[in-house]
Amino acid sequence: MDYRVILIENNRVMLERLSSVVRGIDGYELDARYQQAGDALGQGKMFQPNLILLDIDVPQNLALIPEFTDAFPGAALLCLSSNWNANNAAQIVKAGAKGYLLKPFTAQEFIEAVHTFGRSGMAASSETLAFFSPKGKSGKTTLVANLALSLARKSGEGVGIIDADLQFGDMAVFFNLSPQSTIVEAVRDIEFLSPITLNSYFLEVPEVDNLRILCGTKKPDYAELVDIEPFEEVVRMAQSLFRYVLIDLPPGFNPVSISAAELSTQTYLVAMIGGGFEIQHMRRAMEIFKAWPDYGKRVKPVFTRVEPCTDEQRQWLSREMDFPVDAILPNEYLLVSAAANNGRMAVDNRSGTVFADNINRLADEIIGRRKMR
Ligand SMILES: Nc1ncnc2c1ncn2[C@@H]1O[C@H](COP(=O)(O)OP(=O)(O)O)[C@@H](O)[C@H]1O
Ligand SMILES: [Mg+2]
Repeated sequence: MDYRVILIENNRVMLERLSSVVRGIDGYELDARYQQAGDALGQGKMFQPNLILLDIDVPQNLALIPEFTDAFPGAALLCLSSNWNANNAAQIVKAGAKGYLLKPFTAQEFIEAVHTFGRSGMAASSETLAFFSPKGKSGKTTLVANLALSLARKSGEGVGIIDADLQFGDMAVFFNLSPQSTIVEAVRDIEFLSPITLNSYFLEVPEVDNLRILCGTKKPDYAELVDIEPFEEVVRMAQSLFRYVLIDLPPGFNPVSISAAELSTQTYLVAMIGGGFEIQHMRRAMEIFKAWPDYGKRVKPVFTRVEPCTDEQRQWLSREMDFPVDAILPNEYLLVSAAANNGRMAVDNRSGTVFADNINRLADEIIGRRKMR
């Protein structure tokens, strides 16, 4: 499909610069360009554009977004700004824009923006699920990987995993990926990134085109390179890129896990049944979140390696916890490890296992909750 573009940019030098980028790309035709948004609204219609680029560094232009979407119902509107601002991003999407692009942009960034936002648009609201465990070896990463895949398949919407288990992140192993860029580079570069450019730090998963992963560090000592503020900015930007953001956290409490939990719509606490103290550990971990006013709805305990994996057992665990247990997963060591070793997920096992059923049920619940919002 050919794009017919209208460009609105107040700064004359920038207007020239962006025009030449757009003109240089095959399949894009720059129909008209304006310095004033009002002129574009008045004169632009005769061109029947299907893509409008609107400079929002001019504050009045923000208020004109609804007029643009009314006047050009057949066009996607992308906003241009010289810096990224999470509040602006939410505001422009609510007003009807499809996305947000930092200027100046390269041809490649521009094409990627159109590709990413052109069809489905930026996420106006996203479900952010943080996965936390009181102790290591809880089955948490197995849960996140399988659940993300199930969410991607069932919802058809964009799903992003952030591997924030900074020292021993192994999400890349689960998906058989060898990352060039990881969370360390994303956090380092975030000041200069927009959702589009951050998207390229998330690796694609073969055969699942709506699931992407920001992998963990390659060496444990790199974890020190991750500061909280830019980490939070990465999460916020990912929220405008994906409908579902899943964050795999290191075990125990640390600044990263606390801040990810704060940014989440839902925090899952994961513990593996084994030695016998899991219920006490879980209860103690839950205490920490009790300060949240919406604690009862926002915190979700999950137990893995539960045998027998039945509803009665879940009810028993809920009574012991004095809190509803959100999901339980059976002891499926062979299934989950064989699957992960092949870069395939247990949830993909077509034969319908209890493990896959329970993951899929959890995914349905999450999708249902998002639709209620
Ligand atoms: N439901 C399960 N049943 C049995 N073993 C499991 C289950 N989930 C995970 N495991 C195994 O437990 C180990 C730790 O799992 P992992 O998901 O990496 O936990 P964490 O991320 O909490 O460290 C792995 O060897 C994995 O294969
Ligand atoms: Mg893990």
